[in-house]
Amino acid sequence: MKRVALIGATGSIGRQALEILGAHSELELVAAASGSTPIEGLAPLTQTGGDLTGLLERAEPDVVLNAVVGFAGLPVTLWALERGVDLALANKESLVAAGELALAARERGGGRLLPVDSEHSAAFQCLEGRSPEQVDSLVLTASGGPFRGRTREELEDVTPEEALAHPTWSMGPKITIDSATLANKGLELIEAHFLFGLPYEQIEVVVHPTSVVHALARFRDGAALAHLGYPDMRVPISFALTYPDRAATPVAPLDLAGGLTLEFHAPDLETFPLLALAREAGERGGTYPCAYNAANEVAVAAFLEGRLPFLRIADAVEETLAAVDGAAARDLEDLVEADREARRLTEQRAAIA
Ligand SMILES: NC(=O)c1ccc[n+]([C@@H]2O[C@H](COP(=O)([O-])OP(=O)(O)OC[C@H]3O[C@@H](n4cnc5c(N)ncnc54)[C@H](OP(=O)(O)O)[C@@H]3O)[C@@H](O)[C@H]2O)c1
Repeated sequence: MKRVALIGATGSIGRQALEILGAHSELELVAAASGSTPIEGLAPLTQTGGDLTGLLERAEPDVVLNAVVGFAGLPVTLWALERGVDLALANKESLVAAGELALAARERGGGRLLPVDSEHSAAFQCLEGRSPEQVDSLVLTASGGPFRGRTREELEDVTPEEALAHPTWSMGPKITIDSATLANKGLELIEAHFLFGLPYEQIEVVVHPTSVVHALARFRDGAALAHLGYPDMRVPISFALTYPDRAATPVAPLDLAGGLTLEFHAPDLETFPLLALAREAGERGGTYPCAYNAANEVAVAAFLEGRLPFLRIADAVEETLAAVDGAAARDLEDLVEADREARRLTEQRAAIA
Protein backbone atom coordinates (compact mmCIF):
# COMPACT_ATOMS: atom_id res chain seq x y z
CA MET A 1 0.00 0.00 0.00
CA LYS A 2 1.14 3.52 -0.82
CA ARG A 3 -0.21 6.28 1.40
CA VAL A 4 -1.12 9.28 -0.77
CA ALA A 5 -1.78 12.87 0.30
CA LEU A 6 -3.60 14.88 -2.37
CA ILE A 7 -3.26 18.63 -1.98
CA GLY A 8 -5.49 20.57 -4.38
CA ALA A 9 -8.03 17.74 -4.53
CA THR A 10 -10.88 19.79 -6.02
CA GLY A 11 -9.02 21.10 -9.06
CA SER A 12 -8.59 19.72 -12.56
CA ILE A 13 -5.52 17.66 -11.60
CA GLY A 14 -7.00 16.79 -8.20
CA ARG A 15 -10.19 15.34 -9.70
CA GLN A 16 -8.27 13.27 -12.25
CA ALA A 17 -5.99 12.03 -9.47
CA LEU A 18 -9.05 10.87 -7.51
CA GLU A 19 -10.08 8.83 -10.54
CA ILE A 20 -6.64 7.18 -10.67
CA LEU A 21 -6.70 6.56 -6.92
CA GLY A 22 -10.16 5.00 -7.18
CA ALA A 23 -8.89 2.53 -9.78
CA HIS A 24 -5.90 1.28 -7.75
CA SER A 25 -6.49 -0.43 -4.43
CA GLU A 26 -2.76 -0.25 -3.65
CA LEU A 27 -3.01 3.56 -3.55
CA GLU A 28 -4.60 4.72 -0.28
CA LEU A 29 -5.82 8.30 -0.03
CA VAL A 30 -4.92 9.27 3.54
CA ALA A 31 -5.29 13.05 3.30
CA ALA A 32 -6.82 15.62 0.97
CA ALA A 33 -6.86 19.40 0.95
CA SER A 34 -8.44 22.24 -0.99
CA GLY A 35 -8.19 26.01 -0.87
CA SER A 36 -11.79 26.98 -0.17
CA THR A 37 -14.11 24.23 -1.48
CA PRO A 38 -15.43 21.97 1.33
CA ILE A 39 -14.18 18.35 1.07
CA GLU A 40 -15.22 16.61 4.29
CA GLY A 41 -15.42 12.84 3.92
CA LEU A 42 -13.10 12.66 0.92
CA ALA A 43 -10.25 11.15 2.96
CA PRO A 44 -9.57 10.20 6.61
CA LEU A 45 -7.86 13.58 7.01
CA THR A 46 -9.12 16.63 5.13
CA GLN A 47 -8.42 20.32 5.28
CA THR A 48 -9.70 23.40 3.51
CA GLY A 49 -7.20 26.27 3.46
CA GLY A 50 -4.89 26.95 6.38
CA ASP A 51 -1.52 25.39 7.16
CA LEU A 52 -1.13 22.45 4.79
CA THR A 53 2.07 21.18 6.37
CA GLY A 54 0.27 20.39 9.65
CA LEU A 55 -2.06 18.11 7.70
CA LEU A 56 0.92 16.42 5.99
CA GLU A 57 2.64 15.86 9.36
CA ARG A 58 -0.44 14.06 10.67
CA ALA A 59 -1.01 12.09 7.46
CA GLU A 60 2.50 10.53 7.23
CA PRO A 61 2.17 9.95 3.46
CA ASP A 62 4.52 7.93 1.24
CA VAL A 63 3.79 10.27 -1.64
CA VAL A 64 2.40 13.81 -1.81
CA LEU A 65 0.64 14.93 -4.98
CA ASN A 66 0.93 18.70 -5.03
CA ALA A 67 -1.93 19.83 -7.29
CA VAL A 68 -2.33 23.31 -5.80
CA VAL A 69 -2.26 26.19 -8.28
CA GLY A 70 0.31 28.95 -7.84
CA PHE A 71 2.91 30.00 -5.28
CA ALA A 72 0.48 28.87 -2.55
CA GLY A 73 1.77 25.33 -3.21
CA LEU A 74 5.31 26.13 -2.06
CA PRO A 75 5.04 24.89 1.58
CA VAL A 76 3.79 21.51 0.29
CA THR A 77 6.70 21.14 -2.14
CA LEU A 78 9.29 22.08 0.48
CA TRP A 79 7.70 19.88 3.15
CA ALA A 80 7.90 16.75 0.98
CA LEU A 81 11.38 17.44 -0.38
CA GLU A 82 12.83 18.27 3.03
CA ARG A 83 11.51 15.03 4.55
CA GLY A 84 12.41 12.73 1.69
CA VAL A 85 8.76 11.93 1.03
CA ASP A 86 8.13 11.28 -2.68
CA LEU A 87 6.73 14.39 -4.34
CA ALA A 88 4.48 14.08 -7.38
CA LEU A 89 4.64 17.66 -8.57
CA ALA A 90 1.93 19.30 -10.68
CA ASN A 91 2.41 22.66 -8.95
CA LYS A 92 5.15 23.94 -11.28
CA GLU A 93 4.98 27.46 -9.82
CA SER A 94 6.66 26.31 -6.58
CA LEU A 95 9.65 24.85 -8.41
CA VAL A 96 9.95 27.87 -10.69
CA ALA A 97 9.83 30.34 -7.82
CA ALA A 98 11.99 28.39 -5.38
CA GLY A 99 14.19 26.25 -7.64
CA GLU A 100 17.44 26.47 -5.69
CA LEU A 101 15.80 26.17 -2.27
CA ALA A 102 13.73 23.22 -3.48
CA LEU A 103 16.75 21.39 -4.90
CA ALA A 104 18.70 21.98 -1.69
CA ALA A 105 15.75 20.55 0.27
CA ARG A 106 15.67 17.51 -2.03
CA GLU A 107 19.40 17.04 -1.52
CA ARG A 108 18.91 16.99 2.26
CA GLY A 109 15.73 14.88 2.17
CA GLY A 110 16.85 12.40 -0.46
CA GLY A 111 13.34 11.63 -1.76
CA ARG A 112 12.06 11.47 -5.31
CA LEU A 113 10.74 14.41 -7.28
CA LEU A 114 8.36 13.03 -9.90
CA PRO A 115 7.02 15.56 -12.38
CA VAL A 116 3.30 15.47 -13.20
CA ASP A 117 3.41 18.14 -15.89
CA SER A 118 2.95 16.05 -19.04
CA GLU A 119 6.03 17.46 -20.81
CA HIS A 120 8.25 16.88 -17.78
CA SER A 121 6.87 13.43 -17.11
CA ALA A 122 7.70 12.67 -20.74
CA ALA A 123 11.16 14.21 -20.46
CA PHE A 124 11.81 12.31 -17.22
CA GLN A 125 11.06 9.06 -19.03
CA CYS A 126 13.18 9.96 -22.08
CA LEU A 127 16.13 10.95 -19.88
CA GLU A 128 15.86 8.26 -17.21
CA GLY A 129 19.08 6.29 -16.87
CA ARG A 130 21.09 8.63 -19.14
CA SER A 131 24.15 10.46 -17.92
CA PRO A 132 24.16 14.24 -18.56
CA GLU A 133 27.07 14.09 -21.03
CA GLN A 134 25.03 11.86 -23.38
CA VAL A 135 22.26 14.46 -23.60
CA ASP A 136 22.50 17.01 -26.35
CA SER A 137 19.26 18.86 -25.65
CA LEU A 138 15.71 18.57 -24.40
CA VAL A 139 12.69 19.64 -26.43
CA LEU A 140 9.43 20.66 -24.78
CA THR A 141 6.36 20.88 -26.98
CA ALA A 142 3.68 23.57 -26.76
CA SER A 143 0.21 23.34 -28.28
CA GLY A 144 0.39 27.05 -29.02
CA GLY A 145 -2.90 27.61 -27.20
CA PRO A 146 -6.14 29.05 -28.59
CA PHE A 147 -4.42 32.06 -30.22
CA ARG A 148 -1.74 30.25 -32.21
CA GLY A 149 -1.24 31.98 -35.56
CA ARG A 150 -2.79 35.28 -34.47
CA THR A 151 -1.05 38.66 -34.67
CA ARG A 152 -0.73 41.12 -31.80
CA GLU A 153 -3.41 43.34 -33.36
CA GLU A 154 -5.81 40.38 -33.35
CA LEU A 155 -5.17 39.81 -29.66
CA GLU A 156 -5.91 43.32 -28.50
CA ASP A 157 -9.53 42.72 -27.53
CA VAL A 158 -9.62 39.03 -26.61
CA THR A 159 -11.84 38.20 -23.66
CA PRO A 160 -11.22 35.77 -20.77
CA GLU A 161 -13.89 33.48 -22.31
CA GLU A 162 -11.94 33.27 -25.58
CA ALA A 163 -8.64 32.73 -23.76
CA LEU A 164 -10.21 29.98 -21.63
CA ALA A 165 -11.15 27.90 -24.69
CA HIS A 166 -8.04 25.71 -25.00
CA PRO A 167 -7.85 23.54 -28.13
CA THR A 168 -6.29 20.36 -26.70
CA TRP A 169 -6.22 20.39 -22.87
CA SER A 170 -9.03 20.86 -20.33
CA MET A 171 -7.42 22.50 -17.28
CA GLY A 172 -7.95 24.98 -14.45
CA PRO A 173 -8.36 28.67 -15.39
CA LYS A 174 -4.89 29.93 -14.43
CA ILE A 175 -2.91 27.39 -16.47
CA THR A 176 -5.35 27.80 -19.37
CA ILE A 177 -4.60 31.53 -19.56
CA ASP A 178 -0.89 30.72 -19.18
CA SER A 179 -1.23 28.43 -22.20
CA ALA A 180 -2.84 31.21 -24.22
CA THR A 181 0.02 33.64 -23.43
CA LEU A 182 2.76 30.93 -23.60
CA ALA A 183 3.70 31.82 -19.99
CA ASN A 184 2.91 28.18 -19.23
CA LYS A 185 5.72 27.09 -21.55
CA GLY A 186 7.94 29.73 -19.96
CA LEU A 187 7.23 28.29 -16.50
CA GLU A 188 7.86 24.81 -17.90
CA LEU A 189 11.20 25.88 -19.36
CA ILE A 190 12.37 27.01 -15.91
CA GLU A 191 10.81 23.92 -14.32
CA ALA A 192 12.77 21.69 -16.74
CA HIS A 193 16.01 23.52 -15.95
CA PHE A 194 15.62 22.73 -12.25
CA LEU A 195 14.24 19.22 -12.68
CA PHE A 196 16.85 17.95 -15.11
CA GLY A 197 19.83 20.20 -14.34
CA LEU A 198 20.13 21.32 -17.96
CA PRO A 199 21.34 24.80 -18.89
CA TYR A 200 18.76 26.93 -20.68
CA GLU A 201 20.56 26.81 -24.02
CA GLN A 202 20.01 23.03 -24.01
CA ILE A 203 16.23 23.33 -23.63
CA GLU A 204 14.23 24.12 -26.74
CA VAL A 205 10.52 24.84 -27.07
CA VAL A 206 8.64 23.97 -30.25
CA VAL A 207 5.00 24.41 -31.14
CA HIS A 208 3.20 21.14 -31.82
CA PRO A 209 -0.53 21.84 -32.21
CA THR A 210 -1.98 18.38 -31.51
CA SER A 211 -0.05 17.81 -28.25
CA VAL A 212 0.70 14.17 -29.10
CA VAL A 213 4.47 14.40 -28.64
CA HIS A 214 4.99 15.72 -25.11
CA ALA A 215 8.80 15.98 -25.08
CA LEU A 216 11.91 14.72 -26.88
CA ALA A 217 15.45 14.18 -25.70
CA ARG A 218 18.20 14.55 -28.26
CA PHE A 219 21.41 12.60 -27.64
CA ARG A 220 24.98 13.19 -28.75
CA ASP A 221 24.88 10.27 -31.19
CA GLY A 222 22.18 11.99 -33.26
CA ALA A 223 19.31 9.91 -31.90
CA ALA A 224 16.22 11.49 -30.36
CA LEU A 225 13.74 9.77 -28.04
CA ALA A 226 10.20 11.10 -27.98
CA HIS A 227 7.29 10.44 -25.65
CA LEU A 228 3.93 10.20 -27.41
CA GLY A 229 0.36 9.82 -26.23
CA TYR A 230 -3.04 11.47 -26.47
CA PRO A 231 -3.20 14.60 -24.33
CA ASP A 232 -4.68 13.21 -21.09
CA MET A 233 -3.30 14.15 -17.67
CA ARG A 234 -4.36 10.82 -16.17
CA VAL A 235 -1.28 9.29 -17.82
CA PRO A 236 1.39 11.43 -16.08
CA ILE A 237 -0.62 11.48 -12.82
CA SER A 238 -0.78 7.69 -12.83
CA PHE A 239 2.89 7.43 -13.77
CA ALA A 240 3.93 9.61 -10.83
CA LEU A 241 1.65 7.91 -8.30
CA THR A 242 2.52 4.35 -9.28
CA TYR A 243 6.25 4.91 -10.10
CA PRO A 244 8.42 2.88 -10.53
CA ASP A 245 5.56 0.69 -11.65
CA ARG A 246 3.58 1.72 -14.72
CA ALA A 247 -0.06 0.98 -13.99
CA ALA A 248 -2.82 0.64 -16.59
CA THR A 249 -5.05 3.67 -17.33
CA PRO A 250 -8.27 3.94 -19.35
CA VAL A 251 -6.48 6.15 -21.92
CA ALA A 252 -6.63 4.78 -25.48
CA PRO A 253 -3.42 3.74 -27.23
CA LEU A 254 -2.29 5.91 -30.14
CA ASP A 255 -4.00 5.13 -33.41
CA LEU A 256 -1.03 5.45 -35.77
CA ALA A 257 -2.60 3.80 -38.83
CA GLY A 258 -5.56 6.20 -38.52
CA GLY A 259 -3.34 8.92 -39.97
CA LEU A 260 -1.41 10.67 -37.23
CA THR A 261 0.49 13.71 -38.49
CA LEU A 262 3.18 15.32 -36.40
CA GLU A 263 3.71 18.99 -37.10
CA PHE A 264 6.27 21.21 -35.35
CA HIS A 265 7.29 24.82 -35.76
CA ALA A 266 9.05 27.61 -33.93
CA PRO A 267 7.07 29.62 -31.37
CA ASP A 268 6.13 33.22 -32.23
CA LEU A 269 8.11 35.04 -29.54
CA GLU A 270 7.04 38.50 -30.68
CA THR A 271 3.33 37.88 -30.36
CA PHE A 272 3.81 35.84 -27.17
CA PRO A 273 6.70 37.56 -25.33
CA LEU A 274 6.17 35.68 -22.04
CA LEU A 275 8.13 32.69 -23.30
CA ALA A 276 11.22 34.79 -24.08
CA LEU A 277 10.80 36.69 -20.80
CA ALA A 278 10.84 33.40 -18.89
CA ARG A 279 14.02 32.30 -20.61
CA GLU A 280 15.62 35.63 -19.74
CA ALA A 281 14.44 35.43 -16.11
CA GLY A 282 15.73 31.87 -15.85
CA GLU A 283 19.11 32.76 -17.30
CA ARG A 284 19.45 35.75 -14.96
CA GLY A 285 18.70 33.42 -12.05
CA GLY A 286 18.42 34.66 -8.46
CA THR A 287 14.83 35.60 -7.66
CA TYR A 288 14.01 36.65 -11.24
CA PRO A 289 12.07 33.39 -11.85
CA CYS A 290 10.20 34.00 -8.58
CA ALA A 291 9.34 37.55 -9.71
CA TYR A 292 8.31 36.28 -13.15
CA ASN A 293 5.93 33.81 -11.55
CA ALA A 294 4.51 36.28 -9.03
CA ALA A 295 3.97 39.00 -11.64
CA ASN A 296 2.32 36.52 -13.97
CA GLU A 297 -0.04 35.23 -11.24
CA VAL A 298 -1.15 38.77 -10.42
CA ALA A 299 -1.52 39.80 -14.08
CA VAL A 300 -3.50 36.66 -14.99
CA ALA A 301 -5.86 37.22 -12.05
CA ALA A 302 -6.34 40.85 -13.18
CA PHE A 303 -7.05 39.69 -16.75
CA LEU A 304 -9.60 37.12 -15.55
CA GLU A 305 -11.30 39.83 -13.48
CA GLY A 306 -11.50 42.09 -16.55
CA ARG A 307 -9.05 44.63 -15.10
CA LEU A 308 -6.17 44.06 -17.54
CA PRO A 309 -6.21 43.57 -21.33
CA PHE A 310 -4.71 40.31 -22.63
CA LEU A 311 -1.57 41.88 -24.14
CA ARG A 312 -0.90 43.80 -20.93
CA ILE A 313 -0.23 40.53 -19.04
CA ALA A 314 3.18 40.29 -20.72
CA ASP A 315 3.81 44.03 -20.39
CA ALA A 316 3.10 43.88 -16.65
CA VAL A 317 5.48 40.95 -16.18
CA GLU A 318 8.18 42.66 -18.22
CA GLU A 319 7.84 45.91 -16.24
CA THR A 320 7.98 44.06 -12.93
CA LEU A 321 11.09 42.14 -13.99
CA ALA A 322 12.73 45.44 -14.93
CA ALA A 323 11.89 46.91 -11.51
CA VAL A 324 12.97 44.12 -9.12
CA ASP A 325 16.59 43.59 -7.99
CA GLY A 326 16.44 39.80 -8.53
CA ALA A 327 19.01 39.11 -5.81
CA ALA A 328 19.30 35.43 -4.89
CA ALA A 329 17.24 34.26 -1.91
CA ARG A 330 19.37 33.05 0.99
CA ASP A 331 16.37 31.46 2.65
CA LEU A 332 12.61 31.07 2.45
CA GLU A 333 12.07 34.44 4.10
CA ASP A 334 14.02 36.18 1.31
CA LEU A 335 12.05 34.29 -1.29
CA VAL A 336 8.68 35.14 0.23
CA GLU A 337 9.77 38.78 0.33
CA ALA A 338 10.79 38.68 -3.37
CA ASP A 339 7.41 37.17 -4.22
CA ARG A 340 5.58 39.82 -2.18
CA GLU A 341 7.51 42.70 -3.76
CA ALA A 342 6.89 41.44 -7.32
CA ARG A 343 3.18 41.10 -6.53
CA ARG A 344 3.04 44.62 -5.13
CA LEU A 345 4.74 46.09 -8.20
CA THR A 346 2.50 44.20 -10.60
CA GLU A 347 -0.68 45.17 -8.72
CA GLN A 348 0.38 48.81 -9.07
CA ARG A 349 0.81 48.39 -12.82
CA ALA A 350 -2.45 46.48 -13.23
CA ALA A 351 -4.26 49.26 -11.36
CA ILE A 352 -3.12 51.92 -13.84
CA ALA A 353 -3.44 49.78 -17.00
N1 LIG B 1 -4.89 21.05 -15.20
C1 LIG B 1 -3.95 20.49 -15.90
O1 LIG B 1 -4.20 19.76 -16.85
C2 LIG B 1 -2.50 20.73 -15.54
C3 LIG B 1 -1.50 20.19 -16.36
C4 LIG B 1 -0.18 20.36 -15.99
C5 LIG B 1 0.14 21.04 -14.83
N2 LIG B 1 -0.85 21.57 -14.07
C6 LIG B 1 -0.49 22.31 -12.86
O2 LIG B 1 -1.17 21.73 -11.76
C7 LIG B 1 -1.51 22.73 -10.81
C8 LIG B 1 -3.02 22.69 -10.58
O3 LIG B 1 -3.66 23.04 -11.79
P1 LIG B 1 -5.24 22.81 -11.99
O4 LIG B 1 -5.48 23.08 -13.43
O5 LIG B 1 -5.66 21.51 -11.40
O6 LIG B 1 -5.80 24.04 -11.13
P2 LIG B 1 -7.28 24.24 -10.58
O7 LIG B 1 -8.26 23.43 -11.33
O8 LIG B 1 -7.50 25.71 -10.50
O9 LIG B 1 -7.20 23.64 -9.10
C9 LIG B 1 -6.40 24.22 -8.11
C10 LIG B 1 -6.50 23.43 -6.83
O10 LIG B 1 -5.69 24.09 -5.86
C11 LIG B 1 -6.45 24.34 -4.69
N3 LIG B 1 -5.90 25.50 -4.01
C12 LIG B 1 -5.77 26.76 -4.50
N4 LIG B 1 -5.19 27.55 -3.57
C13 LIG B 1 -4.96 26.77 -2.48
C14 LIG B 1 -4.41 26.99 -1.21
N5 LIG B 1 -3.99 28.20 -0.84
N6 LIG B 1 -4.33 25.94 -0.36
C15 LIG B 1 -4.78 24.72 -0.72
N7 LIG B 1 -5.32 24.44 -1.92
C16 LIG B 1 -5.40 25.46 -2.78
C17 LIG B 1 -7.88 24.56 -5.21
O11 LIG B 1 -8.81 24.43 -4.16
P3 LIG B 1 -10.29 25.12 -4.25
O12 LIG B 1 -11.14 24.18 -5.04
O13 LIG B 1 -10.77 25.20 -2.85
O14 LIG B 1 -10.12 26.45 -4.91
C18 LIG B 1 -7.93 23.43 -6.23
O15 LIG B 1 -8.15 22.20 -5.59
C19 LIG B 1 -1.02 24.07 -11.40
O16 LIG B 1 0.24 24.36 -10.90
C20 LIG B 1 -0.92 23.77 -12.88
O17 LIG B 1 0.05 24.58 -13.52
C21 LIG B 1 -2.15 21.42 -14.40
